[in-house]
Amino acid sequence: MSYETILLDKREAVGVITLNRPKALNALNNQLMDELTAALRDLEADDEIGCIVITGSEKAFAAGADIKQMAEKDYTDVFMEDFITANWEEATRVRKPIIAAVAGFALGGGCELAMMCDFIIAAENAKFGQPEITIGVIPGGGGTQRLTRFVGKSKAMDMVLTGRHMDAAEALASGLVSRVVPTEDLLDEALDTAEKITTYSRPAVMLAKESVNRAYETTLAEGVRFERRVFHSLFAFEDQSEGMAAFIEKRRPQFKNR
Ligand code: HXC
Repeated sequence: MSYETILLDKREAVGVITLNRPKALNALNNQLMDELTAALRDLEADDEIGCIVITGSEKAFAAGADIKQMAEKDYTDVFMEDFITANWEEATRVRKPIIAAVAGFALGGGCELAMMCDFIIAAENAKFGQPEITIGVIPGGGGTQRLTRFVGKSKAMDMVLTGRHMDAAEALASGLVSRVVPTEDLLDEALDTAEKITTYSRPAVMLAKESVNRAYETTLAEGVRFERRVFHSLFAFEDQSEGMAAFIEKRRPQFKNR
């Protein structure tokens, strides 16, 4: 499939998706979200791929849902087309890890897309925000829920009610992003991180992701029980005996990803 609003690059075991509508600061329109969904499905199904990076340009990860496209819609339109559920949530269905590499603006739906990924690496120039209130609506891609879980109620309220931007240092201090790097190093840092993840056992990586995500969905006691079952299940994979044997024999493991 050829894409017009994103770039898809397979760099050995890392799939890199670059949002690419530079004139609109990567505003997320239906075509872009359809193409992003198709690319994510392609990478999820590709056995060669072990980790995914989603990034934008140095100026913008994404400045939000496309306001020009949204402005034309009425209630019937958004209800009947199930805006935005239909093509916005594929990132949350992917079982392989997804890293958001964010430089520049990550606003509205852009911030929400970054939060749907597994973790966010930010450039020093990154700016996060949920400015929907300034155009008469509220976040619709999970922003009121995911941002609150990342940064807590007080800061989420501050962001959602004022629409102000948060810079990279504040995003790091409040737990929205996992690390901040110089802007020119962002892609290399994300690629190195993704490559490192691809050297580990694929089933262990996928089950680690599933277990951390379970923490958002359940009580502590249930989550710990889930983790224990998953931990036990990893002893059914060949990679467990290989990983432990390699440690004892002081050599690098040769994971079979099965
Ligand atoms: C459509 C957008 C856009 C957007 C920017 N552009 N953001 N087009 N939708 N979300 C376009 C501008 O219209 C302009 O095109 C070009 O990109 C450059 O933008 P400027 O405003 O000229 O750049 P700048 O002065 O640098 O300001 C950057 C900015 C500002 C601060 C990011 O563009 C901005 O405030 N954008 C809107 C941010 C926003 O409110 N996002 C939330 C959207 S609602 P032209 O052709 O005019 O020159 C949302 C709801 C999600 O995301 C709910 C469902 C998921």
